[in-house]
Amino acid sequence: MKSIGILEKYKSLLNLPAHTKAISLGEGNTPLIPIPRIAQELGGGFDLYVKYEGLNPTGSFKDRGMVAAISEALGSGMKTVICASTGNTAASAAAYATRASMKAIVLIPEGKVARGKLVASVVYGAKVIQIKGSFDDALKLVIEITKKHPIALVNSINPYRLEGQKTAAFEIVDDLGKAPDLLCIPVGNAGNINAYAMGFDQYNKLKKSGLPQFLGVQASGAAPLVIGKVVERPDTIATAIRIGNPARGEQALEVIRKHGGKIIAVDDKDILATQKRLALEGIWVEPASAAGLAGLMKEIKENRFNAKGKNIVIVCTGHGLKDPDIIEMSQPILIEPTLEMLEKAIL
Ligand code: F0G
Repeated sequence: MKSIGILEKYKSLLNLPAHTKAISLGEGNTPLIPIPRIAQELGGGFDLYVKYEGLNPTGSFKDRGMVAAISEALGSGMKTVICASTGNTAASAAAYATRASMKAIVLIPEGKVARGKLVASVVYGAKVIQIKGSFDDALKLVIEITKKHPIALVNSINPYRLEGQKTAAFEIVDDLGKAPDLLCIPVGNAGNINAYAMGFDQYNKLKKSGLPQFLGVQASGAAPLVIGKVVERPDTIATAIRIGNPARGEQALEVIRKHGGKIIAVDDKDILATQKRLALEGIWVEPASAAGLAGLMKEIKENRFNAKGKNIVIVCTGHGLKDPDIIEMSQPILIEPTLEMLEKAIL
């Protein structure tokens, strides 16, 4: 049986225009993986899961939103799409645009995009342009150019992106049988936290599945929603969320006001330590994707959150293969190909 993507699976629940021409790379349907050992280390007595979004076709959650945005753009007769990106949106736009026989132009901040993402954008055939500036500068530019030219903007300010991305919340409820008590999620441009809120709200209206609180997590050097003002020079090793002026920041704060929870910041060293800890469960995620769990660990350790009896889902947004260069490692040992040397090396 051919695999179906989110547009087909959740067709009746997505608010997309009639002209939308659905394409697919089989996105969505990602696993919800229990991580009981980590729950135990944090005191136990609660259920902890990873929603592993790195298993989407281009290795990040962006594919859910991109399939919707590009299918709509295709149906409305657009020939070219454009986005600003810290890397994942770019890779996803590039893949879905070529799938739809459209052209993709991606603007990225110079030198601050993880290698796997840059290579992906190139191999999928996008026109890649580096900006001598930040993601925020790139976003301003793509907004301006799409006002002037018939090019579709596929950043998450495009409403169809959120329509697609909300399907991850549907899947979590479908798997758990109800909404979790808490959803921990990294926050960059703040599209995804809004998309999850939309998804849980919609399912709750339909199925009385309940609503989670949200723990949004930013990196300390790029935490405008925590410090309450724009960060002119955002800085973090979690390059995916290196954003100082999130387009949907106000809306993200509204999600927190409505659903409960908070947005906090975690240090780069905690992000990296959490990335390593998750990898030892067999789940390798890129640094930004470890922020959600790093935030939960901080809240529990500092006694600000009582997890007992709760269902908690951590959204891991992108695959570790996106950013192999961030992993510090020495060369593996090298031996002569003899049994004797192998025994010497391992026994
Ligand atoms: N995690 C990863 C791996 C991301 O790539 C992003 C955003 C986020 C989390 C944050 O999601 O922006 O919806 O709050 N990446 C964008 C990009 C900015 O260009 O790929 P958000």
